[in-house]
Amino acid sequence: MKRMKIMSVVVCALVVSLSVGATSRIVVGAQFGDEGKGKMVDYLSGDADVIVRGQGGNNAGHTIMVGDSEYKLHLIPSGILREHTQCVLGGGVVINPRVLLEEIAMLESNGISVRGRLWISPYAHVILPYHEALDGHVEDRKAGASIGTTRRGIGPCYADKVNRVGVRVGDLFEADRFSGLVARNVARVNKAMGGVDTTSFDGVYDEYCEYAEKLRDFVKDDCEVMIDEAIKAKKNVLFEGAQGTFLDNTFGTFPFVTSSSTIAAGVCGGAGIGPSRIDDCIAVVKAYTTRVGNGPFVTEMDPANCPIEARKGREIAVTTGRLRRIGWFDAVLVKTAVRLNGAHAIALTKLDILDAIEKIKLCVGYSYNGKVYDQIPAMCCDLSVVTPVYEEWDGWMSCTADIRRYDDLPEQAKKYIARIETLCNAPVRYISVGPERQQTMIKA
Ligand code: GDP
Ligand code: IMO
Ligand code: MG
Repeated sequence: MKRMKIMSVVVCALVVSLSVGATSRIVVGAQFGDEGKGKMVDYLSGDADVIVRGQGGNNAGHTIMVGDSEYKLHLIPSGILREHTQCVLGGGVVINPRVLLEEIAMLESNGISVRGRLWISPYAHVILPYHEALDGHVEDRKAGASIGTTRRGIGPCYADKVNRVGVRVGDLFEADRFSGLVARNVARVNKAMGGVDTTSFDGVYDEYCEYAEKLRDFVKDDCEVMIDEAIKAKKNVLFEGAQGTFLDNTFGTFPFVTSSSTIAAGVCGGAGIGPSRIDDCIAVVKAYTTRVGNGPFVTEMDPANCPIEARKGREIAVTTGRLRRIGWFDAVLVKTAVRLNGAHAIALTKLDILDAIEKIKLCVGYSYNGKVYDQIPAMCCDLSVVTPVYEEWDGWMSCTADIRRYDDLPEQAKKYIARIETLCNAPVRYISVGPERQQTMIKA
């Protein structure tokens, strides 16, 4: 008996030490992006030492509220708002230097120091004006079948990387190499765009040499070593995913996806960190579903009859200003995302947006060819052929925005959360009931 008591004390001590100990943690979006990753990364950065972006570029858009201040970030990790952190743009990111410099200026004008805290991997690829031009050109030519990209040049930049003709951040500092790459790429892109000289070599070269000088002090040739050493030194390292699982260019709703791997393994790869170094993966999940751009959306509602108010939910894209499409919670998507990411837990955001909805629907399965699926069936991965199977739940019809403890949530809201946990096969660890840092609670 005595020995059992001692054992249980030891186990408890171990659990406590693990839960307060250093962690390397990945935060990913589990739907179509805009799940509230920026808010959750800012919240979790409270005790993080290093925050790393591993993929994507300024197609991402995160709105973060800190007190009365609202910040919109596209490239710089959301953890930059905590002054004790070091932030890294990893090798898998695609960087538009103009946007990055604007973001640095915006932060500095708000009194947030960036110098000596923000580091860029030389492996990261550079978005040039011809990538943006090509993105728009290709989208326009697809007319009715366009992807609905953010037109930020993300796809063409990643295509150059895969085709081994892209420009890396490190190349900006090698004059001959850089000028050769730009000359060849400008000629190629102008030809692809119908022989129209949309981009001039001199313009691009001079502009980017100027950017390179301004960014020189941020480029760190051992970023990946720094991250590795932080993990070895038992610091808290947070990897910030951009976009969402179903925008992943392998497992998303292809071809209506982005051009990077948005799942946890992709973030890891882009950060140059092996998967064995990751302790924890959080899937950020909105309490309903949204999507910007084109592509299948099984639980989408007609905006004219949608009880979830776009304005209340501020469902307007940060990057492009487009209205987000809105639908009910889709447990098939999220269960699939939990598997693809190996998520340990869910951060459920925007619960407050459902506060005044009398009847809430929850998609629990996809019906296809006489069968009901609880994860996305690969054979119909474009999702256009499935029909959603819904459960209907009574709403809680009371305000949750001021609640700070899980126990104080309305019973009906707790049941909704419990159902999400069961259907998606992961515990809900964090619940967010508003855009601000403190509007977040931990469910033990
Ligand atoms: P991200 O791209 O995943 O970081 O998400 P976005 O920032 O693009 O979109 C999420 C929006 O919802 C932002 O305007 C956030 O400020 C806001 N937001 C995040 N969490 C909550 C929440 O729990 N409740 C409400 N009402 N807004 C939230
Ligand atoms: P965050 O990080 C929502 C979508 C675009 C388009 C598709 C391809 O804020 O969650 P791209 O420009 O990447 O080639 O566009 O991906 N998309 C996003 N949707 N949130 C994002 O990022 C997105 N980044 C890209 O709307 O449908
Ligand atoms: Mg966003």
